[in-house]
Amino acid sequence: MNPITLPELVRVKTVPAKADVVVVPLTGDSEPAAVDLPTSVGRGYERKFGQSVVDMAKALGAKPKPGATTVVPGLNGQRLVVVGMGADEPTPKTVRKAAGAASRAVAGMKDVRTIAVALPADEPELLRAVVEGTLLGQYAYAPVTAEPADKPALEFSVVSTVADKSIIEQARVVAEAQLVAREWVNLPPNLLYPETFAGAAEDLVKGTKVKVQVLDEGDLTSGGFGGHMAVGGGSAQDPRLVRLSYAPARAKAHLVLVGKGITFDSGGLNLKPGESMSTMRCDMAGAAAVIAATHAIAQLGLNVQVTTYGCMAENLPSDTAFRPSDVLTIYGGTTVENYNTDAEGRLVLADGLARGAEDNPDLIVDVATLTGAAMVALGTEIFGVFSDSDEVAERVLGAAEAAGEEAWRLPMGEWSAKALESKVADLKSGGGRWGGASIAASFLRSFVDEEIDWAHLDIAPASFNEGSADGETPVGGTGVAVRTLVEIARSLQA
Ligand code: BES
Ligand code: MN
Ligand code: ZN
Repeated sequence: MNPITLPELVRVKTVPAKADVVVVPLTGDSEPAAVDLPTSVGRGYERKFGQSVVDMAKALGAKPKPGATTVVPGLNGQRLVVVGMGADEPTPKTVRKAAGAASRAVAGMKDVRTIAVALPADEPELLRAVVEGTLLGQYAYAPVTAEPADKPALEFSVVSTVADKSIIEQARVVAEAQLVAREWVNLPPNLLYPETFAGAAEDLVKGTKVKVQVLDEGDLTSGGFGGHMAVGGGSAQDPRLVRLSYAPARAKAHLVLVGKGITFDSGGLNLKPGESMSTMRCDMAGAAAVIAATHAIAQLGLNVQVTTYGCMAENLPSDTAFRPSDVLTIYGGTTVENYNTDAEGRLVLADGLARGAEDNPDLIVDVATLTGAAMVALGTEIFGVFSDSDEVAERVLGAAEAAGEEAWRLPMGEWSAKALESKVADLKSGGGRWGGASIAASFLRSFVDEEIDWAHLDIAPASFNEGSADGETPVGGTGVAVRTLVEIARSLQA
């Protein structure tokens, strides 16, 4: 498992003369209106090329559409990457997207080492977004090959008048965490399974202020973690429960995070059809997000205690697999009639939530690729937010907004809890055809004391991009929710 190595990135006040590539913004409505070309790069452009850079960009088919990139010749053999920014005032969201698209374009170019990024970055929030976009955009999952690929290391200079060094440092920490989550999601499930996933989490936080404890099969059995034992029972790869703890001295609040870490979801005996199974290595994206975010929160030194659970198992059919109609005992004693072995995520999360509630948090947030229903509702970019508290939902949505991630609240109600009534156990793990994402949320809620604030992020919609790359979002694992979780922790400091 390769650790993530970030390219070099520094702030500069003006474009360095020697940059191989300069990234510049192209604004306009439907046609290019203006390219904001730094004078050091643009002096004498018309004299040499007989036209302005915006006309040159136009002639080469450049569009001001947010995130569209075009390579345009510059002076002295330099290349310009012209990136669309639309017609509106730049926002953190639009510059993150532009920087991401430009950075991806640059990473695909030959003979490039030094890149000057001259996008709008003269305010702290814009600079942070440009740095995040640049670092996120250059990432692509490296294929497993016989020969190691030699990828040249890129050196970015971000042009900005903002002198505060900590902004770049913080953006680096957050971007790196998101890349770690992406890489884990992308790893094939024969390489990343509960044992190796837990090992990767241990490696990540080694030497930091985060303490780590891994419960193996023996610990899970004796501890009564019946969700993990049931779901993991069909696989030769035993389940794991990873517990991370970051506890700064005078913490303002205690946040518990719980993540779904199904390293492969075949559906179990309720086997998925082949097509829907093909991407199910992404089913550990919730655990990847909570672990990576915890690492980032500790690196940032946020004044919040964070205790994190990564609930790891592989869901496979076999003669030792759990069955529909089995009755399981979740950590803490609640019994559950298993509705469908493909509704496995909520069972490992139930263990994690019940255990996490014992830590007496001020807020408990779980993150999971939980339901296809959330994806039907929200599409492929927006994740679902559930909470029985308006205040908590607002906090999560506000954090997503600050992080530049798309989130939407979905409802819960009496009706969604009603679907879970069982005649043979305390609770059934699902039921009914409609509102599946809400029913799943209600199930999770019942494992956390009502007095504890709780939110559930269903990231099935946005965790794995099967389409094409867009802005800072690559194909494959997206690392969604990492930035939102960091912002939730930040919001609890106040
Ligand atoms: N891992 C899936 C949900 C999922 C679907 C994630 C698409 C990412 C993309 C989950 O375990 C699942 O199979 N859910 C079932 C629940 C049902 C059996 C109640 C579903 O959504 O169909
Ligand atoms: Mn499933
Ligand atoms: Zn699943």
